[in-house]
Amino acid sequence: GDLTCGIDIGGTKIAGAVVAGDGTILDEARVVSPATDPEAIESTVADLVRTLAARHPVTAVGVGAAGYVDARRATVLFAPNIAWRDEPLGPELTRLTGLPVTIENDANAAAWGEFRYGAGKDVDDQLMVTVGTGVGGGVIAGGRLLRGGFGVAGEIGHLCLVPDGRQCGCGNLGCFEQYGSGSALERETRAAASGSSLLARDLLDRAGGDPQRITGPLITAAAQDGDRFAIEQLASLGHWLGHGIASLVAVLDPAVIVIGGGVSEAGDLLLDPIREAFGRELTGRGYRPQAEIRAAELGNEAGVIGAADLARS
Ligand code: BGC
Ligand code: NA
Ligand code: ZN
Repeated sequence: GDLTCGIDIGGTKIAGAVVAGDGTILDEARVVSPATDPEAIESTVADLVRTLAARHPVTAVGVGAAGYVDARRATVLFAPNIAWRDEPLGPELTRLTGLPVTIENDANAAAWGEFRYGAGKDVDDQLMVTVGTGVGGGVIAGGRLLRGGFGVAGEIGHLCLVPDGRQCGCGNLGCFEQYGSGSALERETRAAASGSSLLARDLLDRAGGDPQRITGPLITAAAQDGDRFAIEQLASLGHWLGHGIASLVAVLDPAVIVIGGGVSEAGDLLLDPIREAFGRELTGRGYRPQAEIRAAELGNEAGVIGAADLARS
């Protein structure tokens, strides 16, 4: 089939790929994200597209963006963690690149990628949860991506889990992503490491002695080497995720739940605690089929692969 370009605008980096109709990546490029300035992001994405389009005959561009995308898949209405407010991302990128551009929510794009080519390809009903800067959601119901009445369905990161809880970038208090994201993992682990430096010694060593320099990848690396403190941090993140997912499953009844995003690289160190909390809290547990919780198969590439495929349809 024809080649399209998929772009994933993340909190720390922007990834681009040229993708074939069967989901294979032919070429890839990535750059550091220019903070949260919309214009800088647009010109960076346009450069990335031009670089890839110069090397391959791409016919269209799909972009996964971490925000609320309108039903026309052109404008980002709002984003909690990037300064997009009614931002005409699609038209701007078309003006800059000369190519047709489809915008999709980043987690929806990843969900679509996993559904078409990855961990959800054997089912029709899939919930994807991305664990990164925020918590993203993508719902496939009956083989279709759920968009809702206005394009913004699946914003699971803003489910209220804790009444009057932590302030969220969306303006509300107590949202899921304040407890279940990679940012929450870093925040909680830094605080715990400051409070109990003996328990956190291994992790603090890895961070040069400074709790503020503890990052998600450092926590995962320490946990994989068997560090109890790091393992516990991932487990408490997993428990929050399992808790939120149990409520979502009460509504959606997916056949499979796919966990992706940067933190999912921790594998079963994150997934087992998710499974444990989910199994403990799912309504009707023991009397209903229980959805399987799987790791994303396309890893970090789910977003670009899904976005590229959505640009085709
Ligand atoms: C945003 C979503 C996004 C998710 C993951 C959330 O804060 O509201 O639109 O999908 O982060 O990036
Ligand atoms: Na979504
Ligand atoms: Zn929120």
